[in-house]
Amino acid sequence: MTTFQTHSAEETTELGRRLAAELKPGSIVLLRGDLGAGKTTMVKGIAEGFQAAKADDVTSPTFTLVHEYRGPDIILYHIDLYRIDTQRELDTLGLDDLLAPNCILLIEWGEKFPRLQSEQNLEIALERVAETERRIMLTTP
Ligand SMILES: Nc1ncnc2c1ncn2[C@@H]1O[C@H](COP(=O)(O)OP(=O)(O)OP(=O)(O)O)[C@@H](O)[C@H]1O
Ligand SMILES: [Mg+2]
Repeated sequence: MTTFQTHSAEETTELGRRLAAELKPGSIVLLRGDLGAGKTTMVKGIAEGFQAAKADDVTSPTFTLVHEYRGPDIILYHIDLYRIDTQRELDTLGLDDLLAPNCILLIEWGEKFPRLQSEQNLEIALERVAETERRIMLTTP
């Protein structure tokens, strides 16, 4: 496990840009952390790292559930399961079909579902330390 500490949203986005290099095509990345921890902020950087979207264009998929960002090499699916409550609802999203070799799934609130708790998934956990300070822990499979 690797631990980072950031002191602003911009620093977390910058870390996301760098962490993009660690993410493997065809994989699932679980973003853990409380409301406002910075999961979506991290995705802004990851999307920039893959040249898939500008940070400002990455918004929370809380209501739309899935956002797609296409880069030259990779398609990112940014998924927010906060409003998904049952395995049946999860199944209707068809996440398995999105997991192609040139795609990466970035999932917020995935820990709600045991089926997504695979040790094959890279995990980025964010903890609020203070108003603008976050501890960010990267666990690679
Ligand atoms: N060091 C930091 N890293 C990330 N975000 C920070 C930091 N300091 C302050 N913030 C602020 O915290 C908020 C994080 O919001 P964000 O939407 O990224 O959280 P989230 O984990 O996706 O929440 P949710 O579960 O509601 O989707 C933003 O308003 C951001 O500006
Ligand atoms: Mg979010």
